[in-house]
Amino acid sequence: TTPLRLGIAGLGTVGVGVVKIVQTHAALLEQRAGRPIVISAVSARSKSKNRDVDLSDYAWEDDPVALAKRDDVDVYIELMGGHEGAAKDSLEAAIAAGKDVVTANKALLAIHGQALAEAAEEKGHVIRFEAAVAGGIPVVKALTEGLAGNEIKRVMGVMNGSCNYILTRMEDAGLSYDAVFDEANQLGYLEADPELDVGGIDAAHKLALLSSIAFGTQVDFDAVELEGIGSVTIDDIRQAADMGYKIKLLGVAQMTGRGLEQRMSPCLVPNSSPLGQLQGGTNMVVLEADAVGQIVLRGPGAGEGPTASAVMGDVMDIARGFRLSTFGQPAKTLRKARAARAAVP
Ligand code: NAP
Ligand code: HSE
Repeated sequence: TTPLRLGIAGLGTVGVGVVKIVQTHAALLEQRAGRPIVISAVSARSKSKNRDVDLSDYAWEDDPVALAKRDDVDVYIELMGGHEGAAKDSLEAAIAAGKDVVTANKALLAIHGQALAEAAEEKGHVIRFEAAVAGGIPVVKALTEGLAGNEIKRVMGVMNGSCNYILTRMEDAGLSYDAVFDEANQLGYLEADPELDVGGIDAAHKLALLSSIAFGTQVDFDAVELEGIGSVTIDDIRQAADMGYKIKLLGVAQMTGRGLEQRMSPCLVPNSSPLGQLQGGTNMVVLEADAVGQIVLRGPGAGEGPTASAVMGDVMDIARGFRLSTFGQPAKTLRKARAARAAVP
């Protein structure tokens, strides 16, 4: 049988996780896909860095664009990050060269996802991004596959583990925002640019992607009403606790009579609710749909294993010949939605 040949650009936390799954689960993956899943070539900035995996069987490319265009690559996997530069250039090159592509890059997709998906689909190929939203939680597949027969009413959730860690730790330890921010930064929990986390931007990227899938609308990150957690004080958290609430950086997306409402901001949630009980760096997505009612998905939103798990779910779909658009409908049929301001701030 014909193997599915992968090219992986980016050998950091997620890239190494993907290599490990391909290596350790080779037999399992082949059994499930009906064909071997193999890595042809890899790329990162430094060839000499020790990465805790054996890469000696794979071709090395310094340039991700060259990797994306290789004849022995069927699926190009972009795990470098960044919304411009190498990530965007190499994805465009892969699509132009007629490859299927998989990425975990929410920052890039929230801005260029529509154009990239249309370009891929025009070529008869797919772009998949389960790992870009809520890490290991298969929420894209839940929306596009399991709930395909439903009208989606609302999507909400905690989609940034770092912010949830900070808010939970402030509450548990009675520490100030600044103290916990420094602690989280030292522990390596925050992005290189921490404002992406605490400013709510990373979570808003994810919400914009989920809104698009849920409501059949073009990704519109600029329309997300955004407020980060930087101004949440320990007094706010104490007052919320006195009333039986927690403060969470909560994303909400719903279609209203006034248009599509997308909001990412610190919100009060009841202690007793699933969202109120969410601890530490975990993510939770609540989906409300007409036929099924409410579904709560909870799990790790980041990290090597969870994020690589989501990348491999997409790779396995491609290996099995599953050609569904990652938006659940052809990208060119997504409509532009009027943006509605939230009724309640
Ligand atoms: P990371 O640990 O910083 O790794 C990035 C990798 O990309 C490194 O191997 C780096 O090479 C390589 N790279 C960067 N720029 C490059 C360039 N111009 N050419 C070639 N290689 C380049 O990042 P990560 O945490 O794995 O994240 C990867 C992607 O997954 C990002 O889009 C991120 O937002 C997304 N994501 C991450 C998580 C998570 O838990 N980490 C969760 C969900 C989504 P060197 O190693 O040589 O420096
Ligand atoms: N910084 C992100 C978070 C990483 O804390 O959730 C995963 O997307």
